[in-house]
Order: sequence, then C-alpha cells, then structure tokens
Amino acid sequence: MKTQLDSEFSITAAIDPTLIPRRVLYTGAQMPAIGLGTFGSDHVSASEVAAAVEGAAAVGYRHFDCASVYGNEHEIGYALRGIQRKQLWITSKLWNDKHGENDVVPSCRQSLADLRLDYLDLYLVHWPFPNYHAPGCDVNSRSKHAKPYIHTEYMKTWRKMETLVDLGLVRHIGTSNMTIPKLNLLLADARIKPAANEMELHPHFQQPELFEFVRNNAMVPVGYCPIGSPGRPERDRTPEDSAPTDDPVIVRIAERLGVHPAVVCVKWAVQRGQVPIPFSSNRSHYLSNLEGVVSEPLTDENMREINAIDRTCRLIKGQVFLWKEGQSWEDLWDLNGEITAP
Ligand SMILES: NC(=O)c1ccc[n+]([C@@H]2O[C@H](COP(=O)([O-])OP(=O)(O)OC[C@H]3O[C@@H](n4cnc5c(N)ncnc54)[C@H](OP(=O)(O)O)[C@@H]3O)[C@@H](O)[C@H]2O)c1
Repeated sequence: MKTQLDSEFSITAAIDPTLIPRRVLYTGAQMPAIGLGTFGSDHVSASEVAAAVEGAAAVGYRHFDCASVYGNEHEIGYALRGIQRKQLWITSKLWNDKHGENDVVPSCRQSLADLRLDYLDLYLVHWPFPNYHAPGCDVNSRSKHAKPYIHTEYMKTWRKMETLVDLGLVRHIGTSNMTIPKLNLLLADARIKPAANEMELHPHFQQPELFEFVRNNAMVPVGYCPIGSPGRPERDRTPEDSAPTDDPVIVRIAERLGVHPAVVCVKWAVQRGQVPIPFSSNRSHYLSNLEGVVSEPLTDENMREINAIDRTCRLIKGQVFLWKEGQSWEDLWDLNGEITAP
C-alpha cells in the first residue's frame, strides 16, 4: 500500500531512492551510501531540522543520522511518519551520560519512542568517554566526573549494546569517535562486533589509516562533517582550521561541474567508500548533495587530486571530553598508537 510520502514521492521527489548506492554490512543489510545529518549545531531548531528531514525524505533520502543529544528525535519521528519502515535506515546514538549498565537499554527505548520506531538499523556509542557536557556549552566546559577511556568500563556498556540486538531493538551496533587502539580492544572482546564506525571524514581530514582499518575489519566507515561543517558550534572552531570547500582543488572541480564545492566533497566521499551524512536545512542544498551521488562520478584524476589535499585537519577535537587539567585535545585521539594513559 502506498503511504502519503510515497505518493508524494511520485509527484515531488527528485531522486528515486532505489538509484542511491548502498553499502553492505557484515549482516548483509544494506545502508544507503548517503544519509542526512540531523545535528542542528546548537543554532538550527528541532522543528527546522525535522522540516529538513521531511523535505529530504520527499526528495529521496532514506538514511537519517540521529542522536538523542541532538534534542530533536521526537520532532524527527513525526517528520518520518509517512515512510514505510523497511525503506528507511535510521541510526541513533547513546549519549555520554548514559554509558551506565542500567542506562543503555532505557536510553535506546527513549530514542525509539521519540522516533516512533520499533527498532533502529544502527545504534552507536556516540563517544568512548562517559563524560557529560550540556548541549550548547563552550570549549572550556569540563565535567567534574570526567573519565578517560577505560576498556573494562566501555565493555560493560558494550555488553548492554549487545543486549539491544538480542532484544530486537536494534539491528546493528557500532562505534563513533574511536581510534585504532580502542577498536582493537573492542574487536577482541565483543560478542557482537561493531558494524560501523562513525568518524570525521572530509577532504582535509581523510584519516587514511583508520579508514582502512575500519574497512578491513568489516565495519562501514560513516563520515561526519563531510563538507567541513561550516556551521559548527563556536566550541569546535580554532584558528588553524581549514575549510575543504575553500580548497582550490575542490573549487576548480566544482566550477567545472557547475556545482557547489560541498557537492564535490559529498561525491568524493561516496566514491572513496565512506558513507557521508551531510547536514542541511536548505532544500536546494540537500537535494544537490543527493544529486551529486547519483550523477556522473568524479574522474580518477579528480579523485587522485582530492586524495592529495589531506591536511590532517581535525575539526571536532572534543576538548570538552578531556578528563584532567593541562591536557591537550590530541590526548583523546591516541596519536602515538596507544591509548592515552589515565
Ligand atoms: N558522531 C559524531 O560525534 C558526530 C559529530 C559531528 C557530526 N555528526 C553528524 O554528522 C552530520 C554532519 O556534520 P555537520 O552537520 O557538522 O557538518 P557538514 O555536514 O559537513 O556541514 C553542514 C553544513 O554544510 C552546509 N551545506 C550542506 N550542503 C551544502 C551545499 N550543497 N551547499 C552549500 N552548503 C551546504 C549546511 O548549511 P545549510 O543548512 O545552509 O545547507 C551546514 O551548515 C551531523 O549533522 C551529525 O548528524 C556526528
């Protein structure tokens, strides 16, 4: 039976969802190779994000990257009401103050209730640090109870993530903001392996080692901030940051194709093999991002040129998760190949 949105699709949708490439997870499930991000970056309201979700669904998006901390799952659930569940890929995430053994299942159930769903396609541990910071806080905000990554503690959370699969509440579980040393420990101890790792990925932050590691371990790399997050909160801006959309290589390719540089970033991401989740609340922007994925691919030469402009420029540094005085954000990312000591 056709739903309201499916009927609207035949009138207004620009892209047939069946044309969108898919990534196969280790279970055989298929994830659309582009999703719409839903973080309003502390300045786009829940109702505006929900309107973008509804509009994006109407133009052909079927994958939505949600999280309880974005504070808009209730509104998004309403926006998605018309689409057949099996056509959708919905990800949500466990926030950092819900890592406790008694908090994981209720938190997931709350996301399901807000999103008006019986199950999630993918549920991620949002950050590997059980440190709460309030939405909208500034870069100097720290939790009094902040803790480093402690593997035995993370595994207690992960066991409950596995329980969610056993209960049929989620189809896949995964990680976000992890590093190779942390993933190595998790992969060794998990009964149900992570099916995806969400990580920052854009032309100025390509993370080639982690990207390959994730793929070689049967996880799908989901790329956040694929456009370089031009609207990110103040706390996530430093003077050293660069914008991939200003890069002369990206700008030149965009001019040749007659598209915004953002679209080139999205095309590159899908062609490289990650799943970008660009956010936009502007119909022409989210539509052009989707069009970019189903149109003529970038040339091999363009792909090589973009691969060569990596600047190792991490935008989401995570300062608010630091757990002791005098640390620098690099400590969160295990840069020397070992988990930073507590
Ligand atoms: N797991 C994590 O820890 C984590 C961290 C950060 C983000 N995320 C997820 O990743 C998603 C994406 O990241 P993000 O939102 O920070 O950054 P992003 O997707 O790289 O950038 C979004 C920005 O790009 C603009 N934009 C999008 N398409 C455009 C186009 N075609 N032309 C011009 N401008 C365009 C949007 O403005 P307009 O609205 O004006 O189009 C918006 O300001 C988030 O929404 C969230 O779902 C996850």
